Amino acid sequence: MVQIAVMGYGVVGSGVVEVLQKNKDKIAKKAGQPIEIRRILDIRKFPGSPLADRFTDNFEEILNDTEIKIVVETIGGLDPAYDYVRRCLLSGKSVVTSNKELVAEKGGELLAIAREKGLNFLFEASVGGGIPIIRPLDQCLAANQVSEIAGILNGTTNFVLTKMIRDGMPFEKALALAQEIGYAERDPSDDITGLDACRKICILASLAFGRHVYPGQVHTEGIQNITLDDVRYASAFGGVIKLIGRAAKRGDGRLDCMVAPMILPASSRLAEVNDVFNGIMVRGDAIGEVVFYGQGAGKLPTASAVVADVIDEVKHINSPKLFGWGPGEDGYVSDHLQNPVSAMIRLKCGDTKAVRDEIEAGLGGCERVKVSNAPADELALVTPKTEEFRINQALKSVSGAKLLSLIRIADL
Ligand code: HSE
Repeated sequence: MVQIAVMGYGVVGSGVVEVLQKNKDKIAKKAGQPIEIRRILDIRKFPGSPLADRFTDNFEEILNDTEIKIVVETIGGLDPAYDYVRRCLLSGKSVVTSNKELVAEKGGELLAIAREKGLNFLFEASVGGGIPIIRPLDQCLAANQVSEIAGILNGTTNFVLTKMIRDGMPFEKALALAQEIGYAERDPSDDITGLDACRKICILASLAFGRHVYPGQVHTEGIQNITLDDVRYASAFGGVIKLIGRAAKRGDGRLDCMVAPMILPASSRLAEVNDVFNGIMVRGDAIGEVVFYGQGAGKLPTASAVVADVIDEVKHINSPKLFGWGPGEDGYVSDHLQNPVSAMIRLKCGDTKAVRDEIEAGLGGCERVKVSNAPADELALVTPKTEEFRINQALKSVSGAKLLSLIRIADL
């Protein structure tokens, strides 16, 4: 029998307890021994719960209980989760977490403590909710040199963009609907600004390429400025706009890593990932291309991934897994402005011909994209592939034009 504790009895934590109780016998068989929930940490009381006697609001009770060998952290955020997880590891307890902020910001340090102490620190649920991606990337694709990972990593923004694309619903209305249905958080700013997707691509890139990538190193843009006009122009170009997190290994050993709305060709497998679903594409030298697809959030899908990690930790209680990545480094992630990119730029300008000529003088021939009933003073161009700073330079040098939007085109 292995004793565990669950810290945080919110949506995911209560889902973990539910799955552990409901599938107790099956889980015991898989783990090789029964798993007992000894303590649940939450500041709230749950007097009606059949596990009411296990609740505590005192972290020290878990920390000082030497019978507890594995701790599940589903509190979320950094404070107090980071301190609690660090102290659990230092005191000899393995940890499972669903907390993407914790792993993206502190994963390297926590993995190093786990290694030093002969423990496990696992976080399958931190990316893609219930979609298996961390373990497949680490184990099933272990024989590959991974060259690139790109994905739709945030369900809320994918729902909003899907509504804009399919139903012509304006951004604000689509976001309000996502909140009404319960997809978006009450404060959805981390979703909308791309920070949530940024944390997830950091975790995937760290695991795939072996060094910690910090969110602060990754250029991140959200979908807050995407308009229905952008959607229409993307469609006229034969594409759809998706919020993409992308990381690719460069020849010089550094990493290109970015989160931004991008135009994907309608034929791309990721273009077919709609609503709250996530899709993650991995390119490897032996596998070619593989895509993982499913529900990236939600109580039970996420709990399913957390409990799978608990089972894995029970199986590896005396033989820690060789898992994780090394420390990060300044300059490891390249400056995105130096990376070659093609982009759709939309401008408001009096003389569209003169502005196009000026831009093409700087960048070379561009493709003009037109939509029906567009105002005469609107110009949409797709630039050739060139370092991004050159596109910015060309736009700065143009007179008499206002930039409405710049959306990168992705070859995914
Ligand atoms: N807010 C996240 C999303 C939840 O919308 O994808 C899962 O991390």
